[in-house]
Order: sequence, then structure tokens, then C-alpha cells
Amino acid sequence: MSEIKKYDVLIIGAGLAGLYTAANLPANLNALIVCKDVPWECNTFYAQGGIVTALDEEDVPFHIQDTINAGARHNKLKAVEVLSKESIEIREDFLKRGMPFDVDENGNLLYTKEAAHSTNRILHAGGDATGRYMHKFLMEQNYHKLQRNTLVYDLLIENGRCYGARAMVNYKPVTIQASSTVIASGGIGSLYKYNTNSRTVSADIHGICVEKGIALKDMEFMQFHPTVFVKTPFARKLLLTEALRGEGAHIVDEDGYRFLFEYDKRGELASRDIVSRAIFLYKRKTGKKVYLDFSMFDEKWFHKRFPNITKTFAKIGYNLPKDRVEISPAFHYANGGIECDLYGRIPGVKGLYVAGEAACTGVHGANRLASNSLLEGAVFAKRVATAILNDKNCLVGHPKFDKDYDTQLHEENDKAYKHKLREIMWKDVGIVRNKQGLLEAKNFIYDTKNKKIGRLLELRLNTAAAIVNAALNRKESLGSHYIEDETQNKGNE
Ligand code: SIN
Repeated sequence: MSEIKKYDVLIIGAGLAGLYTAANLPANLNALIVCKDVPWECNTFYAQGGIVTALDEEDVPFHIQDTINAGARHNKLKAVEVLSKESIEIREDFLKRGMPFDVDENGNLLYTKEAAHSTNRILHAGGDATGRYMHKFLMEQNYHKLQRNTLVYDLLIENGRCYGARAMVNYKPVTIQASSTVIASGGIGSLYKYNTNSRTVSADIHGICVEKGIALKDMEFMQFHPTVFVKTPFARKLLLTEALRGEGAHIVDEDGYRFLFEYDKRGELASRDIVSRAIFLYKRKTGKKVYLDFSMFDEKWFHKRFPNITKTFAKIGYNLPKDRVEISPAFHYANGGIECDLYGRIPGVKGLYVAGEAACTGVHGANRLASNSLLEGAVFAKRVATAILNDKNCLVGHPKFDKDYDTQLHEENDKAYKHKLREIMWKDVGIVRNKQGLLEAKNFIYDTKNKKIGRLLELRLNTAAAIVNAALNRKESLGSHYIEDETQNKGNE
């Protein structure tokens, strides 16, 4: 029998979405933020480039247009309007709270550019450590209880009402009852062999949603970042921020040829889906290696603007900006996620909300515009907090949830299956897909689900199945979902 704890609000995840939801809830609410490991193991912490904000009211329509163009017009217009209009208020709120964004010698905010933006409108901090700075800032400001080592393995839902969650807290099962529960657990990075995500981001909560019949939306649109150094032994691969290209870095082959212009006239500044796909296809066609070249930058300027990338790569033997770095695309961000309304409410489940990368608000469409992710996390986290305060959820009674999984989280062969899943997702459900590969991935997923596996792997497989099924259902390429044999598929139907 697990221990029982009671809260007004339970927030699952301590990245920007979780912490900023909490920052917008009054201190007299009994709120608990939980994270699986240490709080800085989250995707926010590793976000480099920055956070978009419309520069002013006049820039709002342009930001909206850029977002929709990058999203292959699959975006939910209402959500994009909310994102862009409220971005200015979010920027002002962070500044008022004292967030140290980078400024010039006169104290003016510095804005950079990234791919597919029509102007410089991206704020950054610590040069290339925006996520880390924002995370540290929100952690320092946090006045709610934050609990580490809390692995959520079930949501307590009955008759369209969420009553909280069950979690392993320091390896002991605990029932966390809550009037309102917020999912801010991030995306699905651990499903892919090559990814830029924190090791804690493993799609468990998405998998619970699948199990409970909660809809995931736009799951075929997985985003692959074009410029990642993947030759490290660690699960999280090293991101080279898009701001490098925004500032003028080139993508070249081993002969120094800027081949991207063969694929899109914007070259390095085409949207992320186009650049990733071009690298993939060019490598496959020519067998050549592909590099990010920084040699055009002044050394002093580069070290000041990108201090963390300079340091990280120096540790593994690179002298930037002189040396070029071999790159590959890698999984970066889930454009789709748990379906919700514009206040993060999950349809059909009272008291349950979602914010940040875990959510599908519809803002990103088929491909997220660079640096819209931290912005989405902040804008919609604030809205979730507003909804919680308005909805006045109050738990009257608590049903008895007999089923527990505390002893079934892991099984002996899970590690090997997880490894295989990551390989298959990369190979068959990656940047360029075809029907046969997707069907093979589906077979593997359903076969593995029938084996003796632990609950956490089962949840991962639920999410992987949602991605594969969504990819199979979308017969035509769109944004980050690219089907190679689409004409053949049509002929076979
Ligand atoms: C980057 O810095 O390139 C990543 C930012 C993002 O994911 O938008």
C-alpha cells in the first residue's frame, strides 16, 4: 500500500513549462513540482539558441506568418495568434522579474536571427546558454515545493476526472492526490538513437495518456535538428545551435561545397525540416561527410557570442571557430503531443492540464519555427495557471485506485528492447520514411508489447506506436513528415 500525499496542484516536470506554471500560481496554493531526476535534467536546460518574442505589435503578423510558413500551414491559427500576441507580455514579465537576457554596451536587448525568421527577434542569454539561464532564473525564483527523484508511472483518472498520479519517490511508491494535475514532462527524445534531449525525456507520460484513451495529436511531426555532433558516447548528442547559422555559419561537404542551395534557395536559413532532409539526402546520394564551418567568424567575437559551444568542443579536441565540426541531423523536438485547448486543458479529463513540449496546442504545425519552443512553454504555462485558478478544481472524495504497477516497472530484457526500439525509430521513423519501414517498425513495437516487459518500456512503446500510426495515416509528405514512396503508396491503395 503506497503512502498518500495531498496537494492542490501537482506539476509533473521542472523545465520551463513546469516552473513557469508554478511561478504564476500564488504561494498559498499547496503546489508540488516533481521531476524524475535532478531539476536541471530537462530539455529547457539544454536549449541554446534563444526565445522568440515579437519585437513589437507591428512584428506580430510577421512572426505569425513565419511560424505558419515553417509549420507548412498545418498550424492552428488561433494558437499561433495567442503565441505571438502574448510573447510581448511574456518578455516584459521575464524582464520585470529580472531575467538577464544578453544586452549591448548600452543595455539594449540583443536579438539574433535563426532559420526561417524574417527578422532578428530572438533573445538569448549567456551567449548560447539561453535555456540554462532561464532555468536557473526560474529555479531561484521558485517558491513552491520541488521534489526530485520522482518517477510518475500512472495518472489517477476515473470517470473523466484526474485525481493526481502515482510515482516512485526515491524508489518508494507514493500516491500523490491533487485537485489539479499539470503534465509538463517534455517530449519523447529517448525513443530515438540520435537525439539532443535530456536523458529523462522518455515519453512515459505520453504513453500513460495513450493507455487512458487521451488523444495525442500531430505525432507524425517529429523534428530533427540539422546540426548535431553525434559522435559522442552519451545518449544526448551535442547540439550546435541554429543561431550559428543565423549569424552566418555555413554547412559544407568535405570539399567545402555549400550543397544546401541545391535543395532550397535560402540555403542554411531554410526551415529546419528542409535543412535536415537535405543533409540526409545529400549524404545518402554522395556518401560524403557534412560539416558546420565557422571559419568566417572573428575568433574573439565567436568566443564571446558562443562561449559554451567553444568550451564544450574544446574539451573534445576542437579549436573553434577554426575547426569545422562534422554534423548529422538528430531528433530534437516533438511538434505533436497531448492534445489540449488554448488553456492547456485536456479535453474529457477534468483537472488535467498540459504545457510545454508535452502539449500539442497546434502552434507548431508540421514543423516548429526555431526558438518558438521556450516561448510556447512560457505563454501556455501561464495560461494553464490561469485556467487552474479559474476552474477552481476541488477534490471531493478520492476513488480507490486498486491497480498499482510499483513492482512491475522494469523487467530483465527491457534494456535490450529499448536499445532496439531506438535503432528502429531512427532508421524507419526518422527524417525520410517509407511505408515498408513504418510497417516494420509497427510490427516490432506490437511484438515487443506482447513480451514480458516492464511498465516503463510499455509506456515508451505506446508512444512509439502513436508516432508510427500517425505516420502511416498521413500518406503525403508535410513539414517534418516525409514519405519517400508516396506515389508508390497511392498506386498500391
Ligand atoms: C537551437 O538553438 O538551434 C535550438 C533552438 C530550438 O530548438 O528552437
